[in-house]
Amino acid sequence: MADTREGLFDRLPGKSYTAAAVSIAAKAGEWIRSKAGQHETLEIKANASDLVTEVDKGSEAMIRNLVKTYFPEHGVLGEEGLYAEGATIGEALEAAWAGGREYVWIVDPLDGTTNFVHGFPFYVVSLALAWRGEVVAGVVYDPNRDEMFVAEKGKGAYFRGRRMRVSGEGALADSLLATGFPASRGEMLRDNVAGIGALAPLVRNIRAAGSAALHMAYVACGRLTGFWELNLNPWDLAAGALLVQEAGGKVTDTLGRPYSLETRHVIATNGSVHEELRKVLDEAGATGMR
Ligand code: IPD
Ligand code: CA
Ligand code: CA
Repeated sequence: MADTREGLFDRLPGKSYTAAAVSIAAKAGEWIRSKAGQHETLEIKANASDLVTEVDKGSEAMIRNLVKTYFPEHGVLGEEGLYAEGATIGEALEAAWAGGREYVWIVDPLDGTTNFVHGFPFYVVSLALAWRGEVVAGVVYDPNRDEMFVAEKGKGAYFRGRRMRVSGEGALADSLLATGFPASRGEMLRDNVAGIGALAPLVRNIRAAGSAALHMAYVACGRLTGFWELNLNPWDLAAGALLVQEAGGKVTDTLGRPYSLETRHVIATNGSVHEELRKVLDEAGATGMR
């Protein structure tokens, strides 16, 4: 069948997938919140800024079980499963599509682990469903505010039962932006700091609250004008990218190429300030691309 929007939704009973995503994210998020301030293990992954607790792992296990219960034939690409298996992202993406699987869930069971560990209430569950490599449903759930951000490809983005729209600022000077500091040190951090240095004098202000997925959801609902970050992974971005696109915004990499599951260095905006923001990063040598 041709990959037209109509064809896609003939094959994809979008409502039930999205409803399942909402219910799974709510369950995992409530459980995470019940564990706030009570995690017992803290492991360091690549360095002291790259953390994982038993709550990240428990949330992913819960999500995997629920996905497999609803949709036994679907694949799951989850951050903590990948870490446990020691696979690269490329290997994990390949494994997820293996055996002709058409649907793969892309899961960040707790985005904002550093915040969770420090008791800073800005972390979420991020779930996306990809069909043949294209994200077709995404939800980001913030258990601290009980806010569920939902998007379905071609059908819009919704928040509190209403259609979500990106903000209306037309210039960087009126923009509230957000970014995130990479866990890895070295070139990416240098580029990120260069980008902040170049943008700070040009914008209304910049935030860095520590959850890429929630920052993207905030761009989608208009609380932020735009967001950029270097060196992210598919599970940080997949749901948030669909939210922004379906809310009328724009998502590209830092070179301006359209978002895909391979995107690592992202710019997500209301669309109107996109090119201006991208140019500033480019001129500051802050794209993360070498
Ligand atoms: C992190 C958060 C953070 C971003 C990091 C991510 P995690 O994800 O999204 O905001 O700056 O680059 O790795 O590790 O908390 O799931
Ligand atoms: Ca993450
Ligand atoms: Ca995570």
